[in-house]
Amino acid sequence: MILTMNNVEKSFDGIQVLQDLSMHVNQEEIVCMIGPSGCGKSTLLNIISGLTGPSKGQVINNSSNISYCFQEDRLLPWKNVYENIDIVNQACDKKTCLDLIDKVGLKGFEGYYPQELSGGMRQRCSIARAFNYEADLLLMDEPFKSLDYTLRLDMIQHLLKLWESTKKSIVFVTHEIDEALLLGDRILLLTNRPTKVSEVFQIKKDKYKRRLTDYQLVKIRNEIVQLLQGDRDSNLIKKSYPEGAC
Ligand SMILES: Nc1ncnc2c1ncn2[C@@H]1O[C@H](COP(=O)(O)OP(=O)(O)OP(=O)(O)O)[C@@H](O)[C@H]1O
Ligand SMILES: [Mg+2]
Repeated sequence: MILTMNNVEKSFDGIQVLQDLSMHVNQEEIVCMIGPSGCGKSTLLNIISGLTGPSKGQVINNSSNISYCFQEDRLLPWKNVYENIDIVNQACDKKTCLDLIDKVGLKGFEGYYPQELSGGMRQRCSIARAFNYEADLLLMDEPFKSLDYTLRLDMIQHLLKLWESTKKSIVFVTHEIDEALLLGDRILLLTNRPTKVSEVFQIKKDKYKRRLTDYQLVKIRNEIVQLLQGDRDSNLIKKSYPEGAC
């Protein structure tokens, strides 16, 4: 196992965000996480990366190095696409760097600066940078959020190609169920705050042969939608009838 989290808790200013959260990531596995906005997904990645510590619980990190593709692109504005990707790996030769740029569909934009790129292009640049960093565990926080549907599907294929050649373990946070269905070995569903893992779905089918219309994927998709809908409805009920109101 490359990562194990046992009974992790995290609070900010007395507000409990994570509670009794346990999960693990196996070597070469892609674990997708889906959860409501503000439930603590980025916080969880920050804890895994060591940017912040848990308030309680145990994090066992067996990776040699972690690469982090943040929710916002965090590119260096004074460096162009090529330089932003090249800078994270001293050993990277020009061909490897150009190949990565090609894989994320930015060929021809090597010399462009972040402010000259669209949001989706910046995001793709940041994905290439994350892959160029030497690491065996990759954290990705909604990496395809600024991309249109077709580009998302393309990026999923690119990501699988990159994964195939590097076999990095990946924790992939998304709000898009289809992304998780196409990429994940396992999908973890998170609850509302205080957040823990509510369900785990395992997908055994070969990632390269998956179709969103496959019976197993449709079944899992329906279950996830039902669970998310249920979570939302119980929240709406709580909002409509605050404690003591009825
Ligand atoms: N450094 C911090 N200080 C105080 N509160 C924080 C901090 N970081 C996160 N939080 C709080 O923790 C909660 C979870 O935030 P987080 O960014 O992890 O959510 P998220 O699940 O990633 O949301 P989204 O889907 O919108 O990206 C929020 O209520 C947020 O206000
Ligand atoms: Mg987030």
